Amino acid sequence: MSSSTVITNIAALVTNDPSLGDHSPLGLVRDAAVVIEGDRVVWTGESSKAPATDNRVDAEGRAVLPGFVDSHSHLLFAGDRTEEFNARMSGRPYSAGGIRTTVAATRAASDAELEASLTRYLAEALRQGTTTFETKSGYGLTTADESRALRVAARHTDEVTFLGAHIVAPELADDPAAYVDLVTGEMLDACAPHARWIDVFCEKGAFDGDQARAILTAGKAKGLHPRIHANQLSYGPGVQLAVELDAASADHCTHLTDPDVDALAGSRTVATLLPGAEFSTRAQWPDARRLIDAGATVALSTDCNPGSSFTSSVPFCIALAVRDMGMTPDEAVWSATAGGAAALRRDDVGRLVPGAYADLTLLDAPSHVHLAYRPGVPLVAGVWRRGVRKL
Ligand code: NIG
Ligand code: FE
Repeated sequence: MSSSTVITNIAALVTNDPSLGDHSPLGLVRDAAVVIEGDRVVWTGESSKAPATDNRVDAEGRAVLPGFVDSHSHLLFAGDRTEEFNARMSGRPYSAGGIRTTVAATRAASDAELEASLTRYLAEALRQGTTTFETKSGYGLTTADESRALRVAARHTDEVTFLGAHIVAPELADDPAAYVDLVTGEMLDACAPHARWIDVFCEKGAFDGDQARAILTAGKAKGLHPRIHANQLSYGPGVQLAVELDAASADHCTHLTDPDVDALAGSRTVATLLPGAEFSTRAQWPDARRLIDAGATVALSTDCNPGSSFTSSVPFCIALAVRDMGMTPDEAVWSATAGGAAALRRDDVGRLVPGAYADLTLLDAPSHVHLAYRPGVPLVAGVWRRGVRKL
């Protein structure tokens, strides 16, 4: 039998189980302990009631929460876009066109370079408390380049997304219909075995609603489940399409009509908000308050990519969401843990309950609220992933 460890003397434990502790959505337990056995949580509750274990870790009166679930990133890329960012901060607007720069660099990179780059950003994310991450292709845009990106990703996570429909490949810019045929045909056949999800950038300059529906429907027929980049740069059909297709998530949701908000609230499609993108493109913030008040489920993720959001830091996104998107600190922490899990249709991560994976973040702070209260401060003092201490 695997050995058991108790993490004790936790001042504030976020379980995301409302039946525990303060019975809020965070299920906040004071003076708490967590018991880990193998890769799972086997017990959570008040320290004084913790069962006997083989090993003991003293949290020294600090806070513990589920490892962050970053349900939206684009980490299969080479190069960076420093010049584009610099120009944007001097007034040039963001457009989807910059993606081509990264496509060229990614195609030119070797498999080893692509994997080394992915590994580096994953390590960076782990140091900031992320224990589950989704990542996407989308900077290859040929059958060979998209499928190799997914093969590399699948060596590091189960949450792999095929985003061949990021933009129309530059060599087919004059014939978008031919590119949609490629994505729904040969490219999908090569990519589907390596992915769980299919995504489309549904936006002016990328793919319209009809193209997105065709691509996602073809993906569903191959066993992939949809998620959509929706309503990021402008109002559009993405959110309604996400709900129509029972997508796990509609991502960005920056420009929403009242019917869009109502559709999300009446569905199980999660609204995944990505404030790193609005920060790095100086765009208007998504209105988390409006979505939550309407009853929608909200997730918070980094969107880490070299163009619109080059941050791997969930704590940074939490701070932005609290400062600028109307979220309370509790809501932002929930959205970055349980919300991310909902956006990946998972119940084995994002919560600290018996049976869930032992993915935990220990903060160098007495409360999870410090993630927003102390922005920019490296508060992550410990990370366990699948029961193994990584930091
Ligand atoms: O999620 N919106 C589309 N894709 C990315 C940006 C990609 C890029 O600029 O390289 C996003 O923001
Ligand atoms: Fe994205």
